[in-house]
Amino acid sequence: MLIKRQRSFDLPERLATPEDLFINRRTILKAAGFGALSAGAGLSTAFGLDRAQAEETDPTADLYPARRNEAFTLDRPLTPENVTSTYNNFYEFGSHKQIWKRAQNLPTRPWTVAFKGLVEKEREVDIDTLIRAMPLEERLYRHRCVEAWSMTIPWSGFPLKALLDYAKPLGSAKYVKMQTFLNPKVASGQKQSWYPWPYVEGLTIEEAANDLAFMVTGAYGKPLAKQFGAPLRLATPWKYGFKSVKSIVQIEFTETRPATFWETVNAGEYGFWANVNPEVSHPRWSQATEKPLGGSERVPTLLYNGYGEQVASLYAGMEGEKLFI
Ligand code: MTE
Repeated sequence: MLIKRQRSFDLPERLATPEDLFINRRTILKAAGFGALSAGAGLSTAFGLDRAQAEETDPTADLYPARRNEAFTLDRPLTPENVTSTYNNFYEFGSHKQIWKRAQNLPTRPWTVAFKGLVEKEREVDIDTLIRAMPLEERLYRHRCVEAWSMTIPWSGFPLKALLDYAKPLGSAKYVKMQTFLNPKVASGQKQSWYPWPYVEGLTIEEAANDLAFMVTGAYGKPLAKQFGAPLRLATPWKYGFKSVKSIVQIEFTETRPATFWETVNAGEYGFWANVNPEVSHPRWSQATEKPLGGSERVPTLLYNGYGEQVASLYAGMEGEKLFI
């Protein structure tokens, strides 16, 4: 595919963010004295949806905060909401990090999710019906971008395994393909014809059934803010962040491996598997360390982003695959 210009996604975080914004953000955070936070209550919401707004606009607001599943906790502080909700990758709204205001243009109700392909019965489900049918919980997850920055976030949602049980894929289904909305009228990034819209990501059925694979409907104890990919996104914390497709409208079960968004743009740099590995560099930068947003020190990156115990067995015997890019 012809790339007409260099994309910020190709750059390390310090290069992708204009220096003035980067310095400014750090100064603001320092001045505000952000430290460790606990999820669920009393968090600053200056840049997100505050609880009152959420209750007015989101028909599922009564479900939050969801009960925290203590099996998924962290060894490091949560990243403040002000940071995570103002520094986002959502190319539908621009190829830079400051898209949070523009993302508010996305209408997230009414919203339906279509189940297609190799399922017992294809159907389209209203998002609120779907969310209410699922076992909601809160999990504290790491989130590591291929650009070598990272966050820790209290996501709310439900295991992808529960969605598989709901969708009833046939035995012949080998992959789950998830697709973002397509609406260039509200998402002007989708007018950029050199990208293969809509955004598509995929997992094997085995990966999707793993306990860690999580469908996100909320964060910081509230329904999901639009810039995070409301009303439904994926979180696969052992993989680079680009696997975590946002604002999903379609879930298709296939026998063949789906062509994913960034792989289609540049397969040499962004593959299907995209598992985190500090020893496998991006062709243009090292993945050995990462910069937790909101902090100043870089920290070592861990194999499978620290989730090897849960996921390494998924890849046994697959040495021939490019598992780490
Ligand atoms: N999903 C869609 N639809 N569009 C995108 O541009 N960016 C991906 C992923 N999901 C993206 C997307 C990338 S590159 C990353 S790192 C994460 O979303 C960023 O998630 P965050 O903004 O919540 O940190």
